[in-house]
Amino acid sequence: MSFFFILVAAFSLVSAEIRPNFNYEVQVLRPGGFKDVAFRNLSTAPKEYQGPNCKIQSDDPEWPSEELWAQLNKTIDGVLLKPHPVGAACYPSQTGYYSKDTCSYLVNNATSTRLFLDDPVNSLTSWAQGGSCLQMLDTTGRSCNLLGTPTYVVNASSVGHIQAAVNFARNHNLRLVVKGTGHDFHAKNTGSGALSVWTHFLKNMVYVDHFRVRDYEGPVVKLGVGVEAWEAYNYMIAKNISFAAPLEATVGHGGGWTFGGGHGPLASLYGLGADQVISLNVVTADGRFITASADQNQDLFFALRGGGGGTFGIVTSMIVRAYQGSTSIGGLTYYFTTGPNAANITTPSDRGYAATAPVYIPDREVFWKAVTTYLKFAIKIVDAGGFGFGDPSPAGKDTYIFASTITIPNFSAEDTLTFVRPLFESYRALGINITATPKTASVPYAKPGNGITTIGFPGGIDRMFITRLLPRGVWTEASAGNSTRLELISAAIRRSVETGIYKVTTRAYAPTIGAAGKYNEKYPPAVNPSMRNMVIHCNTFTNNQVFLQSKAQLLETHRGLSASGAAEIRALTPESGAYFNEADRLEPDFQRSFWGEEGYTRLLRVKRIFDPWGLFWASNTVGSEEWELTPGVRDGVMPTQDGRVCRVKRG
Ligand SMILES: Cc1cc2nc3c(=O)[nH]c(=O)nc-3n(C[C@H](O)[C@H](O)[C@H](O)COP(=O)(O)OP(=O)(O)OC[C@H]3O[C@@H](n4cnc5c(N)ncnc54)[C@H](O)[C@@H]3O)c2cc1C
Ligand SMILES: *[C@@H]1O[C@H](CO)[C@@H](O)[C@H](O)[C@H]1NC(C)=O
Ligand SMILES: *[C@@H]1O[C@H](CO)[C@@H](O)[C@H](O)[C@H]1NC(C)=O
Ligand SMILES: *[C@@H]1O[C@H](CO)[C@@H](O)[C@H](O)[C@H]1NC(C)=O
Ligand SMILES: *[C@@H]1O[C@H](CO)[C@@H](O)[C@H](O)[C@H]1NC(C)=O
Ligand SMILES: *[C@@H]1O[C@H](CO)[C@@H](O)[C@H](O)[C@H]1NC(C)=O
Ligand SMILES: *[C@@H]1O[C@H](CO)[C@@H](O)[C@H](O)[C@H]1NC(C)=O
Ligand SMILES: *[C@@H]1O[C@H](CO)[C@@H](O)[C@H](O)[C@H]1NC(C)=O
Ligand SMILES: *[C@@H]1O[C@H](CO)[C@@H](O)[C@H](O)[C@H]1NC(C)=O
Ligand SMILES: *[C@@H]1O[C@H](CO)[C@@H](O)[C@H](O)[C@H]1NC(C)=O
Repeated sequence: MSFFFILVAAFSLVSAEIRPNFNYEVQVLRPGGFKDVAFRNLSTAPKEYQGPNCKIQSDDPEWPSEELWAQLNKTIDGVLLKPHPVGAACYPSQTGYYSKDTCSYLVNNATSTRLFLDDPVNSLTSWAQGGSCLQMLDTTGRSCNLLGTPTYVVNASSVGHIQAAVNFARNHNLRLVVKGTGHDFHAKNTGSGALSVWTHFLKNMVYVDHFRVRDYEGPVVKLGVGVEAWEAYNYMIAKNISFAAPLEATVGHGGGWTFGGGHGPLASLYGLGADQVISLNVVTADGRFITASADQNQDLFFALRGGGGGTFGIVTSMIVRAYQGSTSIGGLTYYFTTGPNAANITTPSDRGYAATAPVYIPDREVFWKAVTTYLKFAIKIVDAGGFGFGDPSPAGKDTYIFASTITIPNFSAEDTLTFVRPLFESYRALGINITATPKTASVPYAKPGNGITTIGFPGGIDRMFITRLLPRGVWTEASAGNSTRLELISAAIRRSVETGIYKVTTRAYAPTIGAAGKYNEKYPPAVNPSMRNMVIHCNTFTNNQVFLQSKAQLLETHRGLSASGAAEIRALTPESGAYFNEADRLEPDFQRSFWGEEGYTRLLRVKRIFDPWGLFWASNTVGSEEWELTPGVRDGVMPTQDGRVCRVKRG
């Protein structure tokens, strides 16, 4: 522990308000000393924003001197990094970083996402980051301008490091970003000329089988915010417990997933990630370190459970509900295809539930009827507490594949087969003979993971998309005309997929108020009200990666996507919204779409109270409309994170 840190109990500024979960939360920043990391007081903060028009970047005269950065580094035990994007190895202009061999390794061999997850600055979605510094063998006409990544990174291993970073950024009007894993689809984890706080190494986990706080008594797990889903699952196996976690192995459990209202395989049973939270420890914009729970800082407790990451503070750990014993999941996977190229299709992942070979359907009309049949059945999946995948996508000339996995917690293989029988009978009525072999307790619960997933680079997860939460009424209401809304939605999906340039994924889950439980009825989280009433979360994606497009082309791509079936689905579900973490970069009326009108009003109030300096800014977050990335839409290009963050000029 450095000279600058002392035990939390020793001074009153924070001790009354914090309940540390781990040792790294006991090492806090002490007031006094280096003045650039001085705290600020919320009660004496200006009511209106008074800082500069644009956040200060490294090419501005106001940018802190090397000496100040060195002093910050000393204050935080030397954990300040000045990293380069990995792709710099491919650009001769990057003296000291250029290396043909390294570049060749990156392009040909480094397909694991660990390269990005374990890196302080690289983001998984290149287009949103600005597409600068892509690792490619031929970089002719491309640049590595370092504007897509932060200038400095605090590799946090104690709360004091985070407080110092927050205070330094606020006192100098810098752009501040937070990176957990880098999964954010809009690359909100990065930004030009920013100071970044990297929370990746805060990986502690502790299970407490009997925990008692106001209105909750039972098992909990304390989680550092650096924990990834696969680490959480391994811990569940080791401890014979379960708790809600992201489905995909490397998504940060305690990062954007929980704060954005993330879902997983148990969502229809126990609710969303945000619904599990009992308390959070957070560094706020004034530099304080406080606990938010049902007992204290209730507004922040509300906001952090679904109101979005990178908005209200930097969370360092949380306590979430856990359940004794493992949850065994019954499930199965099947596919069907149509079109001349069907024999050549390589089937997508079976998600761990052994699949039988795709069933070929000669008649394309029948293929789409079978898709509608699945969509109609989806409400039964969520009402049984399950999670369903039903993904139609193009697979070459006039050829399409539908991939489906159905999983139900607490079902045996036999239960699962009985459960899907009516669905398979409906398929049979269409002349389609689907067979499947159900399994129990497969991924993600049954086997320990290693966190290694592969994704094609450069570009990573480089698709643009539009998402919509399909409300229950779509399934339950009487048909108004000749077609039900669900049939119209299915037709819209078909129109998108048959262009050959879009694919659609549907995720069936229902994190209802009932699933979220009594605790959340008493202390409602900021979770999107549309998620309480949903049956399917429907994403329309570009089928191809878009990272090589210019920013003007990206805007064109967005226009095309906005005119696809996704727009019809939006129009067909005016009462609903979209999932914040998997959304359109230019989601219209995003405030209402992500949080509902009432929810947004309250969230904005919390934002203004806790961050009058506008320190925490990320695109499409609460209060973000007061700032913009330039250049942007009004300059005819897609805004990306390598732009500048400036106040929106009114009028
Ligand atoms: C391959 C893939 C699979 C996915 N699967 C799922 C899924 O199964 N279920 C689901 O719901 N979503 C899923 N998502 C979406 C995912 O939930 C979001 O991308 C989420 O934002 C990831 O959070 P992160 O912390 O891992 O990523 P990051 O990109 O590091 O962070 C995301 C946002 O949260 C902020 N943030 C991170 N840590 C903190 C912190 N400690 N305090 C405050 N703010 C913080 C960041 O600033 C950023 O704005 C998936 C995404 C990808 C790319
Ligand atoms: C903030 O200022 C008020 C009024 O001066 C004071 O009462 C309060 O203790 C200060 N809070 C902190 C956290 O320093
Ligand atoms: C911060 O200090 C450490 C230890 O002295 C040093 O290794 C590191 O390079 C410094 N960081 C920067 C950005 O100078
Ligand atoms: C990198 O990939 C190439 C081509 O696939 C292969 O021949 C080579 O052995 C790999 N090198 C390493 C270090 O993995
Ligand atoms: C970041 O800090 C962790 C310890 O918390 C250390 O293991 C890791 O190597 C550091 N990463 C870099 C790039 O310095
Ligand atoms: C796991 O926990 C459950 C529920 O508490 C218990 O019934 C079961 O015996 C435990 N299994 C093991 C291997 O400890
Ligand atoms: C299918 O694959 C075979 C063998 O790889 C190839 O010869 C054929 O052209 C492919 N057909 C189509 C329609 O792509
Ligand atoms: C699983 O099934 C058992 C036996 O039917 C039941 O007691 C238990 O509550 C169920 N668990 C869940 C999580 O539904
Ligand atoms: C359906 O397919 C299975 C497996 O291919 C086969 O055993 C069965 O006889 C088929 N049923 C009908 C009605 O065609
Ligand atoms: C509804 O169906 C009837 C009978 O098939 C048809 O005459 C009518 O045109 C349809 N209406 C619409 C709006 O499609």
